[in-house]
Amino acid sequence: MYVTQIPLAPHAGCDERAVPVLLNCENRATSPESIQAWIRECRAEIEQHLRGAGAILFRGFGLKTPEDFDQFVSAFGEDNFPYEQSFSNAVRLVRTERVFSANEAPADVKIFLHHEMAQTPIFPQKLFFFCEMAAAEGGATPLCRSDLLLERLAQSTPQFIADCEKKGLKYTNVMPGGDDASSGMGRSWRKTLQAEGREAAETRLRDFGYSWEWLDDDCLRATTPVLPAIREISPGRRSFFNQLIAASSGWKDKRNDPSRAITYGDGQPLDHEAVLMASELAREFTFEVNWQPGDVALVDNCISMHARQPFTGTRKIWASLVNAEHQKFSETSQ
Ligand code: FE2
Repeated sequence: MYVTQIPLAPHAGCDERAVPVLLNCENRATSPESIQAWIRECRAEIEQHLRGAGAILFRGFGLKTPEDFDQFVSAFGEDNFPYEQSFSNAVRLVRTERVFSANEAPADVKIFLHHEMAQTPIFPQKLFFFCEMAAAEGGATPLCRSDLLLERLAQSTPQFIADCEKKGLKYTNVMPGGDDASSGMGRSWRKTLQAEGREAAETRLRDFGYSWEWLDDDCLRATTPVLPAIREISPGRRSFFNQLIAASSGWKDKRNDPSRAITYGDGQPLDHEAVLMASELAREFTFEVNWQPGDVALVDNCISMHARQPFTGTRKIWASLVNAEHQKFSETSQ
């Protein structure tokens, strides 16, 4: 295996620290066995790149199918976090034990920056994406360095960050009874909560500290317990680990209104100006991954947020999540 690190150029206006590491495989014909051996051998080095940059792009490794991707991910030896067990609100198609589609939302739906499942009690520490087919136009995956964003926000709007830290955040969303593939957040409550009926759904909600209300048309409004808005990655390094940007701009469908999707942990509305500032400043720390078929992106979910640009044509991006972690939550805000 001959793998080299190739510098990626930041786009105009993008902080150079937000550029992911690109590891390019120079071998023409590479067997799955040699790739797996390389991953095992270079695990420590890969981990170091990931901690530094928040994301790594693997290019030229000859991966063609979701099954190849499954093997690639498996070589890292991390614990699988299957989609079925997650509280993700996205509709996805499961392909293998580890691999599922990134999001079945229509091509014109923009998915805003978020840390995967930061709005749920269990989140993956890392995620992998694989491009089987790139869109004809658009469809990039923006990656945002959330630690750098937090630093900037703490300078620009210290009171907002202090409030986020002290009060935490609560998220509310309305889930349909059956999957709604027209929405980026259309997963049914039956699947989200792995419950056939309302009683089982309520048990699960109670176990994880949610409050809820049953609505017409078999819909369920669920509000999370108070979840942290900021996370310590390592001593002295913290990230804006939440779904604030996505929830306040993107949680929109026929059941959901973004203005009701997120509050502070005490139920008070967020400072609107500060939310806009967070979305605006995030651009500076965002690098857009323009996919090439065969690419794999490894994202540290505690350091980097991700999003999806609208696209035309067929786009096949697969995802795999590893290392489920339970968030610390409190029933009421402190
Ligand atoms: Fe996501």
